Amino acid sequence: MRTDTPQPIRLADYRPFPFAIETTRLEFDLHPSATRVRAELAVRRTGAGGEPLVLNGERLKLLSVAIDGQPLSANQYLADAEHLTIPETPDQFVLTTEVEIDPQANKALTGLYMSGGRFCTQCEAEGFRTITYFPDRPDVLSRFSVRIEADGHLPHLLSNGNPVAQGSLEGARHFAEWVDPFPKPSYLFALVAGDLDVVSDHFVTMSGRQVTLKIFVDPGQAARAAYALDSLKRAMTWDEEAFGREYDLDLFMIVAVRDFNFGAMENKGLNIFNSSLLLADAKTATDADFERIEAVVAHEYFHNWTGNRITCRDWFQLCLKEGFTVFRDQSFSADMRGAAVQRIKDVRALRARQFAEDAGPLAHPVRPSSYLKIDNFYTATIYEKGSEIIRMLKTILGAKAFRQGCDLYFSRHDGEATTVEAFIACFAEASARDLSQFFAWYEQAGTPSVTIASDYDAEAKALTLTLRQSTAPTPGQPSKRPLPIPVAIGLLSHEGQSLRDTEVVLLDREEMTVRWEGVAETPVLSALRGFSAPVNLTTDARPSDRYVLFGADPDLFNRWEAGQTLARDLILARAGGSPDEVGEERYAQALGQALVDDAAEPAFKALLLSLPSEPDLTLMAEPADPLALHAARDALRLRIAVHLGDLLRRLHGEMQSGEAFSADAEAAGRRALRNACADTLAADPHDENLSRLEGHYKASRNMTDMIGGLYPLVCVGGEARERALSSFYTAWATEPLVLDKWFSIQARDPNPDVLDRVIALTAHPAFEPTNPNRLRALVSTLANFNPARFHDPSGAGYRFLADQILAVDRFNPMTAARLVEPLGAWRRFKPELGALMRQELERIAAHPDLSKNVLELVTKSLT
Ligand code: TRP
Ligand code: ZN
Repeated sequence: MRTDTPQPIRLADYRPFPFAIETTRLEFDLHPSATRVRAELAVRRTGAGGEPLVLNGERLKLLSVAIDGQPLSANQYLADAEHLTIPETPDQFVLTTEVEIDPQANKALTGLYMSGGRFCTQCEAEGFRTITYFPDRPDVLSRFSVRIEADGHLPHLLSNGNPVAQGSLEGARHFAEWVDPFPKPSYLFALVAGDLDVVSDHFVTMSGRQVTLKIFVDPGQAARAAYALDSLKRAMTWDEEAFGREYDLDLFMIVAVRDFNFGAMENKGLNIFNSSLLLADAKTATDADFERIEAVVAHEYFHNWTGNRITCRDWFQLCLKEGFTVFRDQSFSADMRGAAVQRIKDVRALRARQFAEDAGPLAHPVRPSSYLKIDNFYTATIYEKGSEIIRMLKTILGAKAFRQGCDLYFSRHDGEATTVEAFIACFAEASARDLSQFFAWYEQAGTPSVTIASDYDAEAKALTLTLRQSTAPTPGQPSKRPLPIPVAIGLLSHEGQSLRDTEVVLLDREEMTVRWEGVAETPVLSALRGFSAPVNLTTDARPSDRYVLFGADPDLFNRWEAGQTLARDLILARAGGSPDEVGEERYAQALGQALVDDAAEPAFKALLLSLPSEPDLTLMAEPADPLALHAARDALRLRIAVHLGDLLRRLHGEMQSGEAFSADAEAAGRRALRNACADTLAADPHDENLSRLEGHYKASRNMTDMIGGLYPLVCVGGEARERALSSFYTAWATEPLVLDKWFSIQARDPNPDVLDRVIALTAHPAFEPTNPNRLRALVSTLANFNPARFHDPSGAGYRFLADQILAVDRFNPMTAARLVEPLGAWRRFKPELGALMRQELERIAAHPDLSKNVLELVTKSLT
């Protein structure tokens, strides 16, 4: 066990930095194993006199330090493992430091590192301190200028802002200089140096300024940047129209890199992307990839206002930029692809990731009050629940007042590092409402439960609704306050006619009643339409009510939700040993009707046909028995495949397109429905279905269809699986992004031998644990998306994951820590399983030199 207990950082301890860094001049002399960084900071004291200057700095070899050109002697400063401290300084001075770093040895992928022979950076949240000494905190904004020198075989030398000079140097070296006119915190600094292909375009902003757009990719990959470039232009237009936000520099650049811990990063004027979220063409990317690329390109671009122009005072305010920016990208996607389908997908992701987090040992408020490693707080709660909060704010205030609040925020806080309080104050002011109770959404962890009981008085033609809320305790928060919860409710007749349009009821107490007059007949309640709040809803609806909603709710979210709830209850009943065969037949029949509804889009039908996922089901059954849930889900899928066989085969044929590939939402929806049919038919692999699936796979001309054929064949197992996997590998061995899919499909294989196969795959020459995409494709996919096999009763799945965490923690703590969560869920599983999971957490905790990242999550998971 380790002896030094790391100290948490607390929101309550926030103090402004006592100096301003007016300008920052950085000079990089790039060499793979010995890069020199010279930093010149123009410093001015802003706090009380006498305070020492304390800069962050880690893993730096200090070569020299000088004030106003005078080298400091050893007794004038102190450099320890984390700081450079200068006890006495003038009130205004220039500090010059020179350090040496080793980018090639940096496998943590934060700070300056190398990916595929090129230099790149990732500074958020605290990576800049591994590049040079600096106050590495978001509230210190400085004007940066950068000079980069490198070998000629790295032709592109990029940094933030505008290029101001470039030229050649002795010894086949060259240089470039960049100036960023906008003051920014260090986490937005970026540098890239390498051999890259460029795709260029331009965009004319709403005030008529011309902006050059450039996307840099691996040589030979330029054609695969077209979709990202198109997404970028659409996002720029959308932000002008929806939020009045215009781009501010003359140049906007994106670079794709293969080794990246996260999805992408919003560095000012120089976004850096995981190549999996940038490169796409029909042959190698699925529709889901196109969809994510569109969303993430928009997300990072939107950060230019929500994150960069207005940034966070401290990392406790992370949701200020992330929650708001996710809300903005979800709104963009809804406009690009259709609001209902987008909302269903967003809610599915919210429940799978955020509700799971909120129900476990890592539950935390959207604005936490302490942390050990901020890297661990880039969570579904900060991002997704953070976005839901903004969405509720818009629902409660109305679109107009919401937009006025946004406008006020942008004008009042431009150029600042600010807080969630200041943000909410803008909406309170613009709408003239008291939002103090609303603020509790930021401070209280846990998913609220809402129940609605309805009582219809036939004589008075009046409906009385009783709404109640409660939130279960979460770590550190034993008792909870009531929250203001917007509940959108409409009424239907039993024939499926609308009886009353949607009304938003604001449930802001533990309990309240609403009485609606003039309700002509016993209604069917359609509550929480559009998922108007991130809560778990329970009503007194009977299955027959749900069939009314499933067949006819004009709110498509609730139509889908009704089907999912019916399916869930059938699966849980069967997993619990009491299958409802009549109910299953009825469900299959109603599903069949929904699938022939000409008014519904294929994309929506594909969602109707997808049963609740196994990870979602493990969240709904306590304690969860993943194998039983898997078997019960398969049984329902088989019943649907048998009952609707003819219809599914017909739709599978009809949805096939002879036309050239289009990535648009309409064409993607048809492919999604066709693949959902294939997935269901795989549950009933008789000869006719099997040859249909093999035909699907063999005839596929794009990656969506190919994966849509491959996965069912893998599920079928036997020879069909081996043939398909080996032909796929042969076809794609040289395409890293496609090979990631080959690994992840095998990790999702439901067959009983999958654990041995996954363990064997870690010895495959193409398995590279230093590449986060490859690592996650295999390890994280098994642990998160294949519960039936990960939770093997022997505990071998847990042991495998713990071994991987320990191995990866030695070089990439941030990525290792993100593998801990599946084990942290041990309380939710059958006691035999939970004990084995706990045992592996304890084994990790006992390891002598764990990173702070893994230590924090493992410790929290155990207590
Ligand atoms: N700010 C990034 C985003 O848009 C998140 C991010 C990218 C990040 N890389 C990171 C966070 C590395 C922490 C560490 O969501
Ligand atoms: Zn973000």
